[in-house]
Amino acid sequence: MPRSWPRCTNGVAIAPSLLAADFGRLAEEVNSLEDGDVDRLHIDVMDGAFVPNFTFGTDTLRALRAETDLPFEVHLMIQRPELHLDTFAQAGADAMTVHWEASPHLHRTLTAIRQLGCRAGAAINPSTPALCLFDVLESCDLALVMTIDPGFGGQKIIPSTLEKVRRLRAEIDRQGHPVEIEVDGGVDASNAAACVAAGATVLVAGTAIFRAPGGAGTGIRTIASAAAG
Ligand code: DX5
Ligand code: ZN
Repeated sequence: MPRSWPRCTNGVAIAPSLLAADFGRLAEEVNSLEDGDVDRLHIDVMDGAFVPNFTFGTDTLRALRAETDLPFEVHLMIQRPELHLDTFAQAGADAMTVHWEASPHLHRTLTAIRQLGCRAGAAINPSTPALCLFDVLESCDLALVMTIDPGFGGQKIIPSTLEKVRRLRAEIDRQGHPVEIEVDGGVDASNAAACVAAGATVLVAGTAIFRAPGGAGTGIRTIASAAAG
C-alpha cells in the first residue's frame, strides 16, 4: 500500500535527489535525511538512452524501501516508461514521473500509474513548452519542470525555465486541479525563493543537500528557510 503522501510544509516540499548521494552508502545517506524536514525522496532512474547516464533500478529501490518509510518519488528518465510501471510500483514507488518527450501516449501512461495506486507525474525538459502538459493536468498529481538538461546533477539552473513554471502555475490555477509543480535541477538556497515565487511547490535538490558542508540536514534547512523568503 503506498505510504500516505506528505503534506507540503508551509506550502513547499523539499525532495532530496539521491543522485547526489554517496552511492557506496545509500542506506546511510537516506537515513541521514530523517534528521531534516523532508517528506519524500526523489529517486532518479536513468537508462543511458533517454539521458546519457545510468543510475538505479528496481533492486536498489527495493533495498531502500526496507530502509525508510519516506515516500519514494521515482523520476523515470527512461525510454518506454510504460513498459516498467508495474515493476517500479512493486519495488516500492509511491509516485512515478514520466517524461512528455518519452511518452507518445502520456494520458494513458499517467492513468496506468494511478491505477497502480501511485501518484502520477509528468515532466518536461528545458526545451519543451509548458503547454505540452496543459491537456493532461487533470490526470497528473505533479508537473515536473526540468530546470537543467536531465542526466547529471551539479549543474546551474537555467533561469528561463522559471517562466515555464509561471505559465504552468497560471494554467493549473485556471483549470483548478490540485497539481504540484516541481522544479528539478540546480535548485539551491540562491534560487529557492525565485522558484517558489514562480509557482513551484516542490523543490528537488541533490547537490545542495547531499554535498552541503554541514551535512544533509543542514542543506535541507538552508533551502527550506531560503524558500520561505
Ligand atoms: C537530473 C535529475 C535531478 C538532479 C538534481 O537529471 O533529474 O533530480 O539529480 O540534482 P542537483 O540538485 O544536484 O541539480
Ligand atoms: Zn530528477
